[in-house]
Amino acid sequence: MLETLKAQPADKILALMQAYRDDPRDTKIDLGVGVYKNADGQTPVMRAVKEAERRLVAEQDTKAYVGLLGDPAYSDAMRQMILGDAVPADRVSAAATPGGTGAIRQALELIRMAAPEATVWLSAPTWPNHPSIIRYLGMKMSEYRYFDDATRGVDFDGMVADLDGIAEGDVVLLHGCCHNPTGANLTLEQWQKVSDLLNAKGAIPFIDIAYQGFGDGLDADAAGTRLMAKNAPQMLIAASCSKNFGIYRERTGLVMAIAPEAGMKPVTQGTLAFLNRQNYSFPPDHGARVVTTILNDPELKADWMAELEEIRNGMLALRRQLADELRQRSNSDRFDFIADHRGMFSRLGASPEQVERMREENGIYMIGDSRMNIAGLNARTIPILAQAIVDAGV
Ligand code: LMR
Repeated sequence: MLETLKAQPADKILALMQAYRDDPRDTKIDLGVGVYKNADGQTPVMRAVKEAERRLVAEQDTKAYVGLLGDPAYSDAMRQMILGDAVPADRVSAAATPGGTGAIRQALELIRMAAPEATVWLSAPTWPNHPSIIRYLGMKMSEYRYFDDATRGVDFDGMVADLDGIAEGDVVLLHGCCHNPTGANLTLEQWQKVSDLLNAKGAIPFIDIAYQGFGDGLDADAAGTRLMAKNAPQMLIAASCSKNFGIYRERTGLVMAIAPEAGMKPVTQGTLAFLNRQNYSFPPDHGARVVTTILNDPELKADWMAELEEIRNGMLALRRQLADELRQRSNSDRFDFIADHRGMFSRLGASPEQVERMREENGIYMIGDSRMNIAGLNARTIPILAQAIVDAGV
């Protein structure tokens, strides 16, 4: 049996992570995988997470199973953080999942069960694991234009023109905020137009929100998702706590399915529970319990939000410094888009050869499509990167 297996294509983000680890140069700069790092290159455990874990260790008196959907208090707290009061709770089904990827996988499996012929539309470009999972599940997919290589902003006209071709019942995957890999995001007016278009077409929005709090703030980053949830009869959401709570390895995510009416909740919720049971049975609990402890304790929540704001503002400052440095070194304003992008990533717009050159000559690791993790920079490395970008002829 095993002799029939073929080598699978490497995930380009994880392959780059390994290449960086293998590089012996101590001057190397990691702008690859989407993990937040402070100015010292560390990914510290957030203060509120430490405190919540301390309480859990002290107070938890069992490790018995929780439930197939996870702890309802976790789903409630997350629903409120993401959706606010955009939709009544009795329309929202939710299941805890292993990370945001688990939530994406469960949402896609639900789509495949409910509408096996539906096409899932992805932004061009998108996070590489989106098409990879869809292909693996044997589902249909298509792309809509999203990024304008010339302006490094959203190609909104292209996006609307492509979405105009979707069929009733198709699913459109959108990044809730902090678009990965480009850093270019829709304005609220554009969210409204996309929402109206999808409703007119009878298409279903599916929102991947993995960086809430990293862009313009916790509520501002969810504004597009909330707007759409208010307008859409049905919607799917995959959320991750990896980044905003810094609990990457705890694998903490949530899948939500918003039904047109409360009467559909029992079957929708039951389907999510069934899918959890088929794929891994009970979802992980530790990260979810940490998140619930924080979100339901006003003091811990305030401290977490304050630290998240420090992280967000730190990344914005790095963006501004890099854009300034590039202005000076390139004698032009063509890199100003870096300060306008939001979240952890920016797509620089360098060619694969230029990316390769920066890796070989300067030990700078960005993804081959020129996605840079802004959090991988600091005051010392910004001038080095800016000079390398100019020298590479970007
Ligand atoms: C990324 O895009 O770098 C992150 O979402 C990490 C991952 O799993 O790819």
